[in-house]
Amino acid sequence: MGRFTRLAVRSPRWGMGRWIILLTVLGGPLCAMAASDPVAHHWHHPNAGRIPDAAQKSDGHAEVCRACHEVQWSNWSGSRHANAFSPGLLAALLERSRQGVDACLRCHAPLVEQREALHRQDPFFEWQDQAAWPQRLADGIACPICHQRQGRLITPRSTSEKSTASDQELTIHRQRQPSEWLSQSHFCAACHQADPQQKRTIGDGEPLLHNTFSEWRKSPFAARGLHCQGCHMPKRHHLFRGIHDPAMTRSGVTVCMDVTHPEKVVLTLRSTRVGHMFPTYATPRIVLLGTRLDSASHPLDPAPQRWVIQRRMRWSQGGWHPWRDTRLAPGATASLEVPWQRAGVLASSINLQIRVEPDHLYTTHIHPRRLVESADPTVRKLLQRAIGEGEANNYTLWAQTAHRNRVDDQITRSPPMWHPNTREHNPLDHIPIPPVGDTTCP
Ligand code: HEC
Ligand code: HEC
Ligand code: HEC
Ligand code: HEC
Ligand code: HEC
Repeated sequence: MGRFTRLAVRSPRWGMGRWIILLTVLGGPLCAMAASDPVAHHWHHPNAGRIPDAAQKSDGHAEVCRACHEVQWSNWSGSRHANAFSPGLLAALLERSRQGVDACLRCHAPLVEQREALHRQDPFFEWQDQAAWPQRLADGIACPICHQRQGRLITPRSTSEKSTASDQELTIHRQRQPSEWLSQSHFCAACHQADPQQKRTIGDGEPLLHNTFSEWRKSPFAARGLHCQGCHMPKRHHLFRGIHDPAMTRSGVTVCMDVTHPEKVVLTLRSTRVGHMFPTYATPRIVLLGTRLDSASHPLDPAPQRWVIQRRMRWSQGGWHPWRDTRLAPGATASLEVPWQRAGVLASSINLQIRVEPDHLYTTHIHPRRLVESADPTVRKLLQRAIGEGEANNYTLWAQTAHRNRVDDQITRSPPMWHPNTREHNPLDHIPIPPVGDTTCP
């Protein structure tokens, strides 16, 4: 019996139970979907990745693939997939039963090899030192999870797509299995869609928490045949960027500051190239902020005016219930109106900002609650690290200021400031994705 079971027995925690139920249910098996799901066989849980003979010595590490696929490896290694076995996840795992642990690994580290590595670990292993974690676990969603089954290479390339490599170079991939599904949304649904038939998430008929595939299927992008890969893996790159990447978020939205009204400034954010709800999960939060300033650029009001885009859930009567859902469907717009004059005071300028907090629910609710409830020093250290890393992911997506001339009431605008792109070019810049809704500003 490992540390996982021991800790769970020692300290049952109902407060956290809610979150655990939430998360477990998000991961409910896709069995009902399986009947109609053409890739279900790929996702038998846990997956037997089993890499080909030539690479056996390293037993499924992404490092094995890196030797010959440096480009895919370096893109993937900066992605959230490579980070899926995280301090926040481990903090939760250390307090769960073995069965409960497996329910989480299903999406975060689903290989048989990974599960074995975790359960084999000495119960007193010092998990605080991330550098010492078993490599194949730390890999998170590594290459073999998507590309290998029983030693066979699952490839998106059809046999007609000729390789330039020699037969000798290709010996490691002796057993290739082309699969068209790798290029389609169904493939991602295994981990980005809860089972629609089970309805265990929240009350009957209520919307599911992990509902990305269904949201996509209802979107105009699906009707056009644009799959998840078209936006998240253009040209088959492996960056898997999402809301944690400012350039990716920017690519999905159209932001306008309208100063044509004499009495107010209007900020609008329209979801124009997001293939699902913006954002798709209940964990991020996007805040539109408006601050009225005096001539010395000091705020005039005690707090900025706000509009929050978020899917908020409430726990009551033993289940999660939708509370307020202000997320944007493709083409929909959120807006914030800030008046120049309030309580008889005319502002000199108005500053508008859009803040993105990708891990809001974790940094403000899930991890802090667990921190209060846990006495285990390792768990506490991991949680503190998870909160720190989560907060560091917050960013200002966009900012702009409108100025009002006291003499002639003319309104001018400073140039809009977008978050500087920290990683390479915007992935969608070079992929012509026709927008949904208007992308022009007044
Ligand atoms: C159906 C697949 C699935 C299952 C099962 C699942 N997760 Fe996740 N998890 C995700 C996805 C997708 C995200 C990113 C979106 C989000 O934050 O909700 C995520 C994010 C997280 C995060 C925040 C990011 C990070 O890595 O620190 C934590 C912590 C986490 N999950 C813990 C758990 C725990 C604990 C369980 C088991 C009770 C679990 N998950 C089960 C898919 C899953
Ligand atoms: C010894 C070198 C080597 C190693 C190690 C290696 N590959 Fe490859 N792989 C190749 C070569 C060569 C090609 C063909 C490249 C081309 O056609 O551009 C290829 C092609 C592929 C393709 C495209 C498939 C196709 O049908 O051509 C995938 C997917 C792939 N590898 C995945 C992996 C994964 C996952 C790993 C790690 C488990 C891995 N490779 C390890 C050499 C290697
Ligand atoms: C989350 C799943 C996932 C992971 C993890 C993943 N891949 Fe892929 N990979 C895909 C998908 C999906 C495609 C096909 C995309 C498409 O057709 O649009 C692909 C395509 C490829 C190709 C073919 C590229 C081409 O130009 O034809 C190679 C090679 C490859 N992956 C290697 C790797 C390596 C190496 C790793 C680990 C560093 C890795 N993949 C990790 C899902 C994944
Ligand atoms: C084996 C399960 C699994 C598969 C398959 C999978 N994902 Fe994920 N994905 C996850 C988990 C878990 C996370 C959250 C990781 C974390 O933050 O800890 C995630 C995160 C993401 C993110 C979030 C990035 C961000 O900035 O928040 C994107 C985008 C994404 N996946 C796209 C895809 C696409 C596209 C596919 C299909 C080609 C796919 N995923 C297949 C499990 C999976
Ligand atoms: C038309 C382009 C497009 C398509 C198609 C698309 N996405 Fe996204 N996705 C985005 C953009 C842009 C973002 C960043 C803004 C956001 O978070 O919604 C994003 C964000 C995400 C995130 C980050 C988490 C979050 O809460 O938003 C995940 C996970 C994700 N997508 C998965 C998927 C999956 C799975 C599919 C297919 C079922 C898919 N996406 C289809 C454009 C797309």
